[in-house]
Order: sequence, then structure tokens, then C-alpha cells
Amino acid sequence: MKQVKVFLNEKDIPRQWYNLAADLPTPLLPPLGPDGKPISPDMLAPVFPMNLIEQEVSSKRWIDIPEEVLDILYRWRPAPLRRAVYLERFLGTPARIYYKDESTSPPGSHKPNTAVPQAWYNKQFGIKRLTTETGAGQWGSALAFACNLIGLECKVFMVRISFDQKPFRKTMMQVWDAKCIASPSNETNAGRKVLKEMPDTPGSLGIAISEAIEAAVTDPTGQTRYSLGSVLNHVLLHQTIIGLEAKKQLKMASEKLPDIVIACAGGGSNFAGLSFPFVADKINGANIKIIPVEPTACPTMTRGPFAYDFGDTACTTPLLAMHTLGHAFIPPPIHAGGLRYHGMAPLVCQGIVEGLLEPRAYHQLVSYEAALTWARTEGFIPAPETSQAIAAVIDEAKKAKEEGKEKVILFNYSGHGLMDLSGYDAYLSGKLTDYELPEAELKKYIKDLEKLPKAEMRKTGKW
Ligand SMILES: Cc1ncc(COP(=O)(O)O)c(C=O)c1O
Repeated sequence: MKQVKVFLNEKDIPRQWYNLAADLPTPLLPPLGPDGKPISPDMLAPVFPMNLIEQEVSSKRWIDIPEEVLDILYRWRPAPLRRAVYLERFLGTPARIYYKDESTSPPGSHKPNTAVPQAWYNKQFGIKRLTTETGAGQWGSALAFACNLIGLECKVFMVRISFDQKPFRKTMMQVWDAKCIASPSNETNAGRKVLKEMPDTPGSLGIAISEAIEAAVTDPTGQTRYSLGSVLNHVLLHQTIIGLEAKKQLKMASEKLPDIVIACAGGGSNFAGLSFPFVADKINGANIKIIPVEPTACPTMTRGPFAYDFGDTACTTPLLAMHTLGHAFIPPPIHAGGLRYHGMAPLVCQGIVEGLLEPRAYHQLVSYEAALTWARTEGFIPAPETSQAIAAVIDEAKKAKEEGKEKVILFNYSGHGLMDLSGYDAYLSGKLTDYELPEAELKKYIKDLEKLPKAEMRKTGKW
């Protein structure tokens, strides 16, 4: 039997995170304040603790992981690298398909890789309470889990549609002693405004972010901060433990570098976590195809312009240079709730502009079909977000078969789908349909960007 699981010992866990900002051939454009000028780190201080702001703006290549953070991560890390031999056999592909199994964390996804350090750095800074938003509920439950272990209060604004579709995610947050509120809510000015204009809105991550930021910055005690589960540089940094482990494990499986790296991308964190250590190899000359995958219903990377935009609907965040569908974008209620964000991590977007990354979009139905193929060969039931990556993996494995090439494909199994069975139920009973964002809708949403500063597309032209 071929080796299907590769485990690392605790002593082999990476002890530093990798920061792609140190190696990007073209630097990131700076975040801008309301006056259109680059913001200074202290302007972020009401929202984030200074120790995380330092990571956000750092250009150091390697950043130490605190021992106390590792001590919590050992509960599930190092995470297994598995080889999908049963899928390979089913497809009859010469490709070798490896996946990093991030579904083994207590909340069931990659999200605690950053929830734990974020909670830890906040606690170190003397903060008592964190607020956040959540789409699918994976991030909210991950932060609830981390805050509970570290001793912080946690309040989660959950996008209305997911709150209704995934009641058990809310229960998980309550088990870990957090408060979970449907967004838009009546608890904030941002939420009340949206509810007045659109009482039946399914909500969006952009609205929930506005609410969570407002709840943090209006705490009169000054002991509340906001925590974001994706998009920002420090979040992506924390996730690189995935790719750093995968590198060691591929070596143990006698593989060199992968030919293809794939992950789904909502705000970009699990994609960045797996791929950035390999993007560094690509910058240094390796030939690797690196594919972030998104839904056709929320085609940020494949159809959204590269522009300065706000990270939230109420326009409270700094302006970030990124691919965006416009901050007013309200996505259709597809089940991959974690992939419905209007923007994308600036580091991922700069990689796209530079030509290092090749984004791709998949329809909902083909992703569910891929998820069933996976569950009926490998056995595990993937999260709907993860299924988008699996759809791309299956395509690439079929292509390798057509070409008769022994490609090594590595992808991120970002989470399990055991809390997402209502989506599977809808698919199996034929209630789901594909949705492609109409051009006229897209134009309407991105019209707002015309009033904002323009983002220059800087690239070396090497890729
Ligand atoms: C299982 C899973 N995968 C992927 C994502 C997408 O987020 P990101 O792009 O930050 O990894 C989410 C978001 O909630 C998720 O729950």
C-alpha cells in the first residue's frame, strides 16, 4: 500500500511564520486613510492591539511563534498531510494528489491557526474582549474556541443567512462561551441603518464587519478590540504554518516541490497559508502553478477590478488595494458562506497582479458534484468552501491524465462539512442552482469605486 498519511512530531512543528511581504517582487500599495493618504500604524490602535499592528506592517521574513501559542496549537498541529489515493484511483490519474488536512482542528477548519495567536496577542496587550464577524460560522467558532482557552470574552456578528442556515455553528460558539448575534442587528448604528433600508437582507460579511468594528471602538472602557479572520497581512502570516508543515511532509513523502498548489479563497487566508511558502519558491525560480479558487457567484479575483476599496459596507476601514466587487456588494445566498466576501487579501491580490497566481472560478453545482466524488472516494465530507478547491483539483488531475503527466498536486482541505449538511441536503434534493454574477450587477457595485483613489498595478513582468 502507498503511504496515505504523513505525520510530523510535535518537535517538528514550524517555530516561525513566513511573511511573503519580505519577498514580493513589487511591494504592496499602502492602506489609505479617509484623506487618501497612507495611514500610520497608530491610526489602527483603536481597532487592533499594537503587537498585532506591528505584525501587520512588518517586512521581516520570519516571525517567531510564541511558545504559549504553540502549546495551544499542539492540540491538533502539526496537521496531517494525506494523499488522496482513493480519488486518484477513481480518476485513473497519474497525478499524485496531496492535501493538508485542516479539518482536524477542534472547530473543524484552518481558522484557529490565527484565532489562537490573535487572542493571545490581545491578552498580552491587556485586552478583555474581542468582537468579530463570521460568514459560514467557521471563523466565529474558531475565535470563540481561542478566546475561551485564553480567557477573553468574545462577541460574534454572524451573517443573517448563515445564522439561519447553520444554527449549530451558533451552538458551538455558545459551548465555547461566546455571544453570537445575527447581522445586521439592532445593536449597532451600522446594523440599524441597514435593517431600516433592507429589513429582509440576508446580510453580508461587509455589514457584519462594520458592526463588529463599531462594537469594539465604541466600548467606553477601551478594553475591547476587533479581530478579523482573513484578508489582513497578520492573519495570512499566522496561516503560513500550513504550508511550512506541508513542505516538510512532502519531503518525508519523497516528493520535491509540487507542480500545482490549490486552495479556495474567501478573504484569502487558507490559500495564502498553504501557498505562500511555495510562492517564495516560485519567486526564486521554481515552476509551480498556484491557483486560488472562488465561486462564480462572488468572482472577486476573476472579475473584480484591482482598486482601492473599503473592507466593510459602512466604509469604516482603511482603503485597501485589492481586487473587489465593491463594498456595497451583497452576494447571493450560495452555501459556500465563507467565500462571499467582496474583497480579497491585498497580499494575494498583489500576487495576482504580479502574475504569480492564476485565479479561477467554479459554479456551485460542479463544486457539490466534486464534494460528492470526494466523499464517495476519500470518505470525508468537505466544507462547501473546500469543495471549490476540490473541483479544481479534479480538473487538474484529469488534465494530467489527458497529458499523461505525473503531476504533484497539493491542496488545502480547509475544513469539514459536518456543520454544513443543510447545503448538502439542498443539493441532493435538487434545490440548488448555479449563479453567475450578471455584468450589469457587477457594474452597479463597482461604480462606487470611481470616487476613491486609483490603485496602480505594479508588476515586474517576470511571470
Ligand atoms: C472551511 C473554510 N474554508 C475556506 C474559507 C474561506 O476563508 P479564507 O479565504 O480566509 O481561507 C472559510 C471561511 O469561512 C471556511 O470556513
